[in-house]
Amino acid sequence: MELLEQIRAKAQKLQKRIVLAEGTELRTLRATEILLREQLAQIILLGDPQLINEITTKEGICIEGAEIINPLTDPKRHYYAEMMVEIRKSKGLTLEEALKSLNDPLVFGPLMIKAGDADGEIAGAVNSTGDVLRPALQYVKTLPGVSVVSGVFFMLLKNKEIGENGILVFADCAVMPDPDERQLAEIAITTAKTAKAIANIEPRIAMLSFSTKGSAQHPFVNKVANATKIAREMAPQLMIDGELQLDAALNEEVGQLKAPGSKVAGRANILVFPGLEAANIGYKLVQRLAGAEAIGPVLQGMAAPINDLSRGCSVSDIVNMVAITATQAE
Ligand code: ACO
Repeated sequence: MELLEQIRAKAQKLQKRIVLAEGTELRTLRATEILLREQLAQIILLGDPQLINEITTKEGICIEGAEIINPLTDPKRHYYAEMMVEIRKSKGLTLEEALKSLNDPLVFGPLMIKAGDADGEIAGAVNSTGDVLRPALQYVKTLPGVSVVSGVFFMLLKNKEIGENGILVFADCAVMPDPDERQLAEIAITTAKTAKAIANIEPRIAMLSFSTKGSAQHPFVNKVANATKIAREMAPQLMIDGELQLDAALNEEVGQLKAPGSKVAGRANILVFPGLEAANIGYKLVQRLAGAEAIGPVLQGMAAPINDLSRGCSVSDIVNMVAITATQAE
């Protein structure tokens, strides 16, 4: 089965409660209709019910079965605000400030998750990545033992001989602008878990650089080599190698030439980039020039799944991202 079909089938079984924080946004409402019809998740829309009703009536969209919650009037506001004050007590957050912040659905959604009233959230069709992520990082926080939230793309390539039957997982394409060596090691380990959980991929991780095994000397190279060492210490069972250039990671001949004996070189299925600039530009190059389908960013490392959409997203992007979020909530 194709990856997206597998994800959808899993989401249908799980029936998770997913918050769509931008509940008055047209593409989000059209996606809700499909999600409910295909029974991919239970949907909670945040926003003014009257406005949502006006839009769906005008556009002929059926969202029967979706729960609509208005963050401005919901009876749980006070309870959530008290939780916020407790979580942010070291930052001196007051109850009044918390109540005001809760007017923002991007804050209200993560609080629903924190309180156990929802399993996951997506937003970002109209809001920036930073605005979606900040409240999620502040209130939902990271999984135990994880300090860094990062974002991966599943790149579905036309050439099935590369990666895992044409699937490559790229990280971190979405969050950490300049990870240090320990953070980079953590990103590699978390990505291995995401690849296994979402696509059942046995990870072979390449830690990318502009150097292979000391062919160039530079602090940037040292960072990747040290991150590889740390990742191996943290997860000795993982198949991980670095530092590797991209050709050494993906091409068998070049891999054996530049990194003889490596179990990863030439057959990597996970590419960990040295920083956000390279990763973000890299996935877009592969998407635009090689015609690969890019699924993501799938955020990882958060204590509950919260995912960010691109502002240029389509209705089917939203449907797919809800299905992915639901499977992450397993
Ligand atoms: N993992 C875990 N916690 C984090 C992370 C992280 N990666 N980054 C920040 N935090 C925490 C901070 O410790 C802080 O916690 P605190 O308030 O309890 O002290 C909180 O989150 C807010 O962090 P700040 O650094 O104050 O917030 P800021 O907004 O400056 O940065 C953000 C966070 C939004 C994630 C920032 O790193 C960012 O903008 N990253 C780039 C996102 C982006 O633009 N990506 C590209 C587009 S996406 C795409 O093209 C697919």
